[in-house]
Amino acid sequence: QKVYADEMERTFIAIKPDGVQRGLISEIVSRFERKGYKLVAIKLVVPSKDFAQKHYHDLKERPFFNGLCDFLSSGPVLAMVWEGEGVIKYGRKLIGATDPQKSEPGTIRGDLAVVVGRNIIHGSDGPETAKDEIALWFEPSELVSFTSNAEKWIY
Ligand code: TYD
Repeated sequence: QKVYADEMERTFIAIKPDGVQRGLISEIVSRFERKGYKLVAIKLVVPSKDFAQKHYHDLKERPFFNGLCDFLSSGPVLAMVWEGEGVIKYGRKLIGATDPQKSEPGTIRGDLAVVVGRNIIHGSDGPETAKDEIALWFEPSELVSFTSNAEKWIY
């Protein structure tokens, strides 16, 4: 039954505590869905500070690292894995530039966020980080591969 699932590109996307608390889950999920990407894992978690530090380990020398990790662990985060051709790069395009003052209108951050420290969403920035972040946030058994049956009931 599985067609592409094993080799299909996947990325890690997370709605940060500000996005969850502002009620933006459905807005953000719908943008990935409408584009045509497939949701293969989703869960709401409150990461510990230690976990947040692992997630952002590449940034540990940056001055904003501590505040960033405090923020990520301050409330529920919606962790997801999305699948589809080009999803890592195009997911970043849907998200927009890191600083919402520079993100284009039409992007998630451009439309919905104002400041860099509260930019509502995370997306893996390349194939290696996607692999690492998916492994950090999810057990393999939490990733659900499926082949769409939509053609059976949509004409
Ligand atoms: P980074 O990985 O550079 O950006 P992105 O999330 O677009 O991949 O930075 C991670 C997060 O750190 C970013 O989403 C918001 C925060 N951040 C700041 O708070 N201040 C900053 O100056 C930068 C560059 C990032």
